[in-house]
Amino acid sequence: MALVPLKRRRRVARSPPAEPPGPGRFPSVVLCLVERRMGASRRAFLTQLARAKGFRVDVAYSAAVTHVVSEQNSGAEVAQWLAQQRGACGAGGDPALLDIGWFTESMRAGRPVEIEPRHRLRVTVPAAPHGGLMASYACQRRTPLLHSNQALTEALEILAEEARFSGSEGRSLAFTRAASVLKALPGPLGTLGELGPLPGIGEHSRRVIQDVLEDGVSAEVERVKLSERYQTMKLFTRIFGVGVKTASRWYQEGLRTLADLQVQSTRLTRQQQAGLRHYEDLSVPVGRGEAEAVSRAVQAALQRVLPGASVTLAGGFRRGKQHGHDVDLLLTHPEAGREAGLLSQAMSWLESQGLILYQHSQESSFVLCEGPGAPGARDCMDRFERCFSILRLEAQRGQRGPGAARGWKAVRVDLVVAPISQFPFALLGWTGSQHFERELRRFARHERKMVLNSHALYDTQQDLSLPAASEEEIFQHLGLEYVPPLERNA
Ligand code: UTP
Ligand code: MN
Repeated sequence: MALVPLKRRRRVARSPPAEPPGPGRFPSVVLCLVERRMGASRRAFLTQLARAKGFRVDVAYSAAVTHVVSEQNSGAEVAQWLAQQRGACGAGGDPALLDIGWFTESMRAGRPVEIEPRHRLRVTVPAAPHGGLMASYACQRRTPLLHSNQALTEALEILAEEARFSGSEGRSLAFTRAASVLKALPGPLGTLGELGPLPGIGEHSRRVIQDVLEDGVSAEVERVKLSERYQTMKLFTRIFGVGVKTASRWYQEGLRTLADLQVQSTRLTRQQQAGLRHYEDLSVPVGRGEAEAVSRAVQAALQRVLPGASVTLAGGFRRGKQHGHDVDLLLTHPEAGREAGLLSQAMSWLESQGLILYQHSQESSFVLCEGPGAPGARDCMDRFERCFSILRLEAQRGQRGPGAARGWKAVRVDLVVAPISQFPFALLGWTGSQHFERELRRFARHERKMVLNSHALYDTQQDLSLPAASEEEIFQHLGLEYVPPLERNA
């Protein structure tokens, strides 16, 4: 290596100047260069070159970055780099991972050239923990919240939703499965060929993936997004208390807007009326801070009515999501039986504080079945209670959206009471994701001849239910490697 005077060497090796990123001449392109193997001085040189040609080059990764360029790195290395950057800045983003060839051609052309498959880094088919191909059940895989194939999974999930809106559950599940597999890939998919023998990705999904890889969008998905039916179904099913069936009936009757529903409000259930009344607030995602504030308010109520009772934040927030459509809370008490009557007392207290905008409670209809007439079969399952509510949450610092000026916001909260013996099952069942749960139950049934739900795990061959004191024990009973909540985002 040529000797470079220390002083100069230090200057050359400095990171490129962190200029305030302007839009550049090409607003849809934001570059970020990976220093690894490229080296700091070459990176600084290439940064300056690109900026001189009018490109926006960011020094630090953020969700705004659209093109990640590296030199002499493998796809897996850059995918790993990307995961680290995302973890460090808490941002998602779905940049193309490109080799230096794309950069050189673009500099020569004086504009960002079209990305072709040869420009993309190849990310090889992931191995399962034990070296085989990707596991076929989602509950055998680790699926982080932030992943590398956002554009693809969003497209597939829109088709899944559209299929659900049309009552085609099977088709919906096929798209959901395909999306879920892509979420578990360690890096961005470059070409359809890399999918190889991956399980659960059907013909139709492959077509959609190919379109998005080649054109950036799928014409079919764009058509769905613009269709009146999809938009109306989306609007209606967002209303608390409105499912696909009701929304579909309204659509067929020619109803299209919330105003159309208001005219017919006598036909709505009490729950739907509340949903409509608070529509604006409820369609703004609940932030993590808000979910924690709700959880504290409920904990305060429990402290009043039954000290020792606990509340646990489940649902998407337990999986690490920063936003959700509701707050899922699990209530329990460490002494069996003490939880009886807890929910109604806690709700009464919250009501007396003026915090309840809507509530309706439901007794569990669940009865543990260990064969007809088995002693202890009923345990305390029939006391399983649940409350669907809308709570009034005082404005949090920095809150935006419709409630900010008013000083409070309506938030959807589900409260579930689980006796301590069922708590691990309830926690597992209410943490989600919905697809992860579905796959756990499918795995239990087909691979283990067991029945899993939010109350219990039942072994049909031994004809007994298997107790568990933690989620880990449930995975053990199922012979599955433990998947922590943050990796259940299937
Ligand atoms: P959610 O529908 O609240 O989903 O159900 P989520 O993952 O928290 O997503 P957002 O952020 O609110 O939109 C949470 C979990 O509770 C289970 C679901 O299967 C999911 O795993 N659940 C929900 C039930 O078991 N029963 C229900 O009636 C509702
Ligand atoms: Mn939720």
